Amino acid sequence: KVLIIDFGSQVTQLIARRVRECGVYCEIHPFTKAAEALKTVQPNAVILSGSPHSVVEAGPTVDKALFDMGLPVFGICYGEQLMCDLLGGKVESGHHREFGRAEIEITKSSPIFKGLDAKETVWMSHGDRVTAIPEGFEVIATSEGAPFAAIANEDKRFYAVQFHPEVVHTKRGTDMIRNFLFEIAGLKGDWTMAAFRQEMIEKIRKQVGSGKVICGLSGGVDSSVAAVLIHEAIGEQLTCVFVDTGLLRKNEGEQVVTLFRDHYNIPLIHVQAQDKFLGALKGEFDPEKKRKTIGRLFIEVFDEEAAKIDGAEFLAQGTLYPDVVESVSPHGGPSTVIKSHHNVGGLPDYMKLKLVEPLRELFKDEVRALGKELGLTDAFVGRHPFPGPGLAIRIPGEVTPEKVKTLQDADAIYLDEIRKAGLYDQIWQAFAVLLPVKTVGVMGDARTYEDVLALRAVTSSDGMTADFYEFPWPVLGRCATRIVNEVRGVNRVVYDVTSKPPGTIEWE
Ligand code: XMP
Repeated sequence: KVLIIDFGSQVTQLIARRVRECGVYCEIHPFTKAAEALKTVQPNAVILSGSPHSVVEAGPTVDKALFDMGLPVFGICYGEQLMCDLLGGKVESGHHREFGRAEIEITKSSPIFKGLDAKETVWMSHGDRVTAIPEGFEVIATSEGAPFAAIANEDKRFYAVQFHPEVVHTKRGTDMIRNFLFEIAGLKGDWTMAAFRQEMIEKIRKQVGSGKVICGLSGGVDSSVAAVLIHEAIGEQLTCVFVDTGLLRKNEGEQVVTLFRDHYNIPLIHVQAQDKFLGALKGEFDPEKKRKTIGRLFIEVFDEEAAKIDGAEFLAQGTLYPDVVESVSPHGGPSTVIKSHHNVGGLPDYMKLKLVEPLRELFKDEVRALGKELGLTDAFVGRHPFPGPGLAIRIPGEVTPEKVKTLQDADAIYLDEIRKAGLYDQIWQAFAVLLPVKTVGVMGDARTYEDVLALRAVTSSDGMTADFYEFPWPVLGRCATRIVNEVRGVNRVVYDVTSKPPGTIEWE
């Protein structure tokens, strides 16, 4: 087991992810609870995270006793500085801040660098730097901006690096972490998603006791995986509420109901709120107002249903780690609101429900793996992300029931062709957008004057940036032909070739 002590870095969860990728179980605990965690977790190794703070200005710290426990310790960035500070080295505020790509030169062979080249690309992000290392340590790698880029006390199994091995820009970062775990701490990579499932089940049971839990299902992968996992842990103490906004993809509402009620036997309240949502959107043209209306109604409807469940104490959410980071703003400061995502941040305070968020530490692909572990199909867990406001933001301008139906039909054909061509999994998101524009066409010798449909498909790793997807032309051609032939009211199809930035993925 590995204990990761968190000093507040934005990328601490990435350390956990890398450790899990190596097949080793780990837990992240804040530095304020480090002493307690050392007792409860009983780790075989400890990793100290980075931090936005500075040791020079008395930043977060841990009890020095950590270094007397005989445990191997790996300090990352702030972790290195803290280790130096606590063990008698020296850290100074750098005149020379170092951010971004850097090259380190490995100056002394060490098990932590096993299998690496003499020069490696790493990712630096630090203001302070170490200027003298503690007794018993030696320098094992240097870089231009950081003469103490990596240091080690091999006897005591203390290692520390100034760069971030957990981020993908450090090319062999995972190898360094693996070396620390396997070569230095002697751990084995035999931990799996099946084990995570068991551990989470225990945790949920412990948190919830005999209390009742409500879970809002959206039809997406995250809330579904959370619900199935929680149901496995506490059975009938869980009730799912599925608010059908009428803005889902074709047939997805029914699929959710069938999957949960019939397949998993999970108590489910299906709230048919289509008319409510479409009614409220009538006459609304502004994208942000549409989002706010949907967000507000969603909470209202959910709240009303939740109130009917007697004695519910907990609210389950499928919050993932990237949601957590994004909603607290990755740069620590107020970032500009481009679009107000309504489903992050959850429900109003007055509901006073305690949160159960079993996926909070996971990344999307890990949630998918967990979903499969829980018996969800590949097709289900591999679903593209779908925005909370649904098709409403894929109908620029006013949303009407007729437009929703047209869009659903066209979108279903588009996805069907993508699946048939075997391209679905290469794409981050693919969807159709129904434009408020009519153009002239000719069908069967007659003039038509109908709507334009835009197709969008992007590749992305996190939705923050995206590239338009380069379809083979014949696939796009088939989509266009089928849509114009089969969907009433659409006589022209265009493809969106904008990346993000400057575009966004959705059209509104
Ligand atoms: P944009 O359009 O901002 O989208 O490039 C980035 C990702 O977020 C999704 N998205 C939303 N998700 N509520 C959501 O839950 C929203 O209001 C919303 N707007 C965009 C979008 O589908 C993409 O995955």
